[in-house]
Amino acid sequence: MSKSEIEKRTSLAEIASRLSASRRVKKLRNEISRLRDAYHIENAPNVTDDVYDSLTRELRTLLEEYPEFKDASSPLNRIAGKPLQKFKKIKHKIRMLSLNDVFNPEELYEWEKRIKKLLPPSPLQGEGQRGEVNYFCEIKFDGLAVSLIYEKGILKTGATRGDSFIGEDITLNLKTISSIPLVLPKPCPDYLEVRGEALMSKKTLSFLNKINERIGKPLFANTRNATAGSLRQLDAKLVAERHLDFYAYDIAQISNDEKIKNHSEKHKYLKELGFNVGESDAVCKDLTEAFRFIEKFEIERPKFPFGTDGIVVSIDNLEFQEILGVVGKAPRYMVAYKYPAERATTIIKDVKINVGRTGVLTPLAIFSPTLVAGSTVSKATLHNMDQIERLDLRIGDTVVIEKAGDVIPKVVEVLTRMRTGKEKKFKMPEHCPTCGDKVQKRETSSFQILNPRGSHAEGEGRRGEKFERSELSVAYYCANSKCPAKNERYLEHFVSVFGIYELGPKILRRFKDEGLITDAADIFTLTKEDIAPLERFGEKSAENIIEEIKNKKKIPLSKFLWALGILHVGEETARDLAQHFGTLEKIIFSARQDLASIDSIENIGPAVLKSLHDFFRDKNNLNFIKKLQKNGVVVEKVGKREAGKLNGLTFVLTGTLSEMSREIAKEKIISLGGKVSGAVSKNTSYVVAGEESGSKEKTALKLGVKILNEKEFLKLLL
Ligand code: IVH
Repeated sequence: MSKSEIEKRTSLAEIASRLSASRRVKKLRNEISRLRDAYHIENAPNVTDDVYDSLTRELRTLLEEYPEFKDASSPLNRIAGKPLQKFKKIKHKIRMLSLNDVFNPEELYEWEKRIKKLLPPSPLQGEGQRGEVNYFCEIKFDGLAVSLIYEKGILKTGATRGDSFIGEDITLNLKTISSIPLVLPKPCPDYLEVRGEALMSKKTLSFLNKINERIGKPLFANTRNATAGSLRQLDAKLVAERHLDFYAYDIAQISNDEKIKNHSEKHKYLKELGFNVGESDAVCKDLTEAFRFIEKFEIERPKFPFGTDGIVVSIDNLEFQEILGVVGKAPRYMVAYKYPAERATTIIKDVKINVGRTGVLTPLAIFSPTLVAGSTVSKATLHNMDQIERLDLRIGDTVVIEKAGDVIPKVVEVLTRMRTGKEKKFKMPEHCPTCGDKVQKRETSSFQILNPRGSHAEGEGRRGEKFERSELSVAYYCANSKCPAKNERYLEHFVSVFGIYELGPKILRRFKDEGLITDAADIFTLTKEDIAPLERFGEKSAENIIEEIKNKKKIPLSKFLWALGILHVGEETARDLAQHFGTLEKIIFSARQDLASIDSIENIGPAVLKSLHDFFRDKNNLNFIKKLQKNGVVVEKVGKREAGKLNGLTFVLTGTLSEMSREIAKEKIISLGGKVSGAVSKNTSYVVAGEESGSKEKTALKLGVKILNEKEFLKLLL
């Protein structure tokens, strides 16, 4: 390509990206304005703060790159909210500002660096050592900002922030809040303006939402919306029913303020006047201490009775606050340290297909990297086609990603208003993307959405009691037993359940490519001599691998079952099965029975039973288990080490025991969580045979139920 051609192409690409940036800016502006109005005027947003913040951040970043699209009327330049017409207006004597946010320690330290430059040099430390400052840390409540005016100690007016200059007069509503003093204790200032946050507790919110759900009214997304929604209705009687609270955080005006020199003193004084102030508020001598406060509260936060979204850090000294002043709509002397957002927005770039170990095709959303809950994520499972349809997700869509704690990220919502019309629907491929075999369909119960753990392990047990709703859905899968993707995933799953951490996905693939293993059972016959000659391995790493494999040959029954990768048998179901049956032999024996004759088992649904039946009737699977055992794998039966107690086990006692009476033995079993039955059946875990046991022992032998002699039984009780 000639130089001019390259230049032409580059400039064409630039024009295209400018054009799409300009469209995106417009879309973002409209959506941000809409959300802002929904939030502050109607109190009925359908997205959380995090989503709003995320869109705003994207708009800011785009405008930094394309300053030519900046617009004075942009929602970024507006303070939230307009006063509602239905209330009388109140002009604030002092503007009600908002706060600038910081999202990590670095940003907090940058803020400090900026402000310290503006403060006078410390008299003690001289030039160069500027502004020795204390910081005041307080909880940032998630409610509605309120201004209260007291004249001669009597509450005269209470107002919302409105557009920061003019708010709504909600005095009557605020008077219903019992923690707002109507009269101040004497002596009190002639004139006082208190600023603070009206709040609803998390408990009250959940109670209110339960009622709303029952009567079919929309639910409040958080305590802030619920507070705002409550306070901005005209009937004060209804407000009183909402049990709101109030926490004071600032004195905006006071007639005799000469004695107050620090922000912390304001809090102290507010407390003396009978206001609630944050109980954990603290003066910190530097940002290291402030950061300790932030980290400590982050741990306490989930249990805190009110909604919070961060910590307000301010310069304690009021003189310094004065010097630093206000820039734009926020003070320079105060910042809000926001805790990591659990939701963020991003754009779906593609939907890829993962072939899992059971052959199920799982769609995976690939999106522009985005920061959620403190880490950058760029993909999330979409579970299945139904999920894509439920979300109405298309490639190119702007979506909301959620990630709470360690839980894997998920796409929770599509912001359809951000669509341009160019989004593409996703279709399941007709052929397996790995082996090319025709993709099969199978009807299955779908529970993922309600999975309480927030993640969905492929093939996890369908434990009816944990899911409130099940729906039939279609699973797409590759039925080719030789599909390389399926086999690879299975191998990875197998070694991870066995805890053979030395064998990562890359090494497994390598061993397979080199012909060292054809299935998971071959892992156990590998030798140092097989591995050491391979390029990039060597003696030492070969030794480590072999040593680890040797150490992991013994495996508890529940783990072994899980490792087998039986459809619907995840970790928990495997544990239930192991506890119920006790031995592998018994599971195989029972599962191979006629499906109709298999008795129901606690926690185990029919889908699991069918799956077990199919699995253990398949000769290939039985051969695989035999091969594992031949290669040295030892499946430990359920003993006290695994079950801890005798939960889920059923015993039948027969014959005479020498160490204790049958009655005492029965009591012991029950006290350890087991059951005692009079008759032997397929569901019996153990028959305990004492001296002169009779027909019960014979039945046990016939049914393949494990028989314990007294010594073995006593060992189990230990
Ligand atoms: S100080 C300049 N302290 O956060 C505004 N604000 O994002 C000074 N808020 O409008 C506010 N808890 O509604 C302050 N302990 C606290 C707060 C707090 C919640 C709210 C307040 C403010 C908003 C700013």
